Amino acid sequence: MTSPSNKAIGWSSRWTFIMAATGSAVGLGNIWKFPYVAGENGGGAFVLLYIFCIAIIGLPVLISEIIIGRNAKSNPTDAMLKAARQSDVSRGWAGIGIMGAVTGILILSFYSVVGGWILDYLAISAQGFFSNNDSISIIAHFEQGLLSNPNTQFLWFSVFILMSVGVVAAGVVNGVGVAVRIMMPTLAVLLVVLLIYCVQEGAFNQAFAFVFNADFSKLTSNSVLEALGHAMFSVSVGMGAIMAYGAYMPDNASIGKTAVTVALFDTIVSLACALIVFSLVFDNGIEPSAGPQLMFISIPIAFSQMTGGTIFAVIFFALVLIAAWSSAISLLESSVAWIDAHTRFGRVAATFAIGAISWTGGIACIYVGGIFDGLDFLTSNILLPIGALLIAIFTGWKLKRKIAKTQLADLSFGQFNTWYGILRVFTPLCIFAVFIYGLWDIFF
Ligand code: PHE
Repeated sequence: MTSPSNKAIGWSSRWTFIMAATGSAVGLGNIWKFPYVAGENGGGAFVLLYIFCIAIIGLPVLISEIIIGRNAKSNPTDAMLKAARQSDVSRGWAGIGIMGAVTGILILSFYSVVGGWILDYLAISAQGFFSNNDSISIIAHFEQGLLSNPNTQFLWFSVFILMSVGVVAAGVVNGVGVAVRIMMPTLAVLLVVLLIYCVQEGAFNQAFAFVFNADFSKLTSNSVLEALGHAMFSVSVGMGAIMAYGAYMPDNASIGKTAVTVALFDTIVSLACALIVFSLVFDNGIEPSAGPQLMFISIPIAFSQMTGGTIFAVIFFALVLIAAWSSAISLLESSVAWIDAHTRFGRVAATFAIGAISWTGGIACIYVGGIFDGLDFLTSNILLPIGALLIAIFTGWKLKRKIAKTQLADLSFGQFNTWYGILRVFTPLCIFAVFIYGLWDIFF
């Protein structure tokens, strides 16, 4: 059998990888979830904790995933298998790849449901629904028009899945590569436009104080678990999405610099989104702890009360759509690449098959109560932390050090050992401690 690496394809520039990985990282997690989780956990102190989790856990694991992916130039399961073989350790470690592929399919199921809501909101924004509308109709649209109306959700959700399947089916270079090179610069421009608006017109100072003033008394054990789970979800580590993209990264690109860039972009976008969201809601006297409805009720109410609301609503929901879409495509890549390498169906059929499984999962989320929240909890708070823990242990303790050194050849002695030391000791200990502590607290 030809090894998958024999037909390796790749991106010719480091920037395509950066944009694809940033596209994966920046998503609903940054725009929809981060502001409300930070709001519910008191703001500044949570933000600090979150940044700590990105630096100590997210970044070291991000680097590990790229190393393993690029070392093998194949899908995560085969990449883990190759790394295990090269390091003379059990092939069972390839299970990380399989678990990651399954996690990706599960995340995509509920993620696309929210993607569908965004499409609905983009459509009604464009029709002027948020121009001078009253709060009662806006609340009614979300609660009755959407949440209690599974058929509408089903329609938009199916469109979202098809959009994601379309890009991935078109291939790594012509599909994912081209898409992210268009989407990411557009996302940056939209973000800057909204930020400028909020600095000029919104309650920016109040938002700034909320996001950056740390009040540690607001933190609970649950905040710690949330910060950890969300940090991993946000930089897309723990399920092989970045490992899958790592396979397409050019050999001469620096993994260290690239990973730092991606983690930094992701954090900057989260902070910028929190500032935008809170500037808008504070300006309208809405509580920051409004929860998941922040984006679908509070922000739209803010739009409907300002001049040019329609334009800003369209810009905002287009931004969210791009972010969600570029993340969804990365959730498909790891399983699609595996099927493509091991069957004769080819990439297009593989993408449709995986899309169909997530589509079924999404239908369950829409029509059966409890599944949506269950999948969200299971993936962010259990599967991603376990995946990240195993990747850290594998790369830190099992993978031949020479492989990591070769992939990180441009790092100085000090830089390499800082990463290696953190990855071997701090990352696993932190994940393990927070994970056990948080679960204990929830279940006992
Ligand atoms: N990072 C994405 C977000 O913030 C979600 C995601 C998680 C994407 C894991 C891929 C893998 O929305």
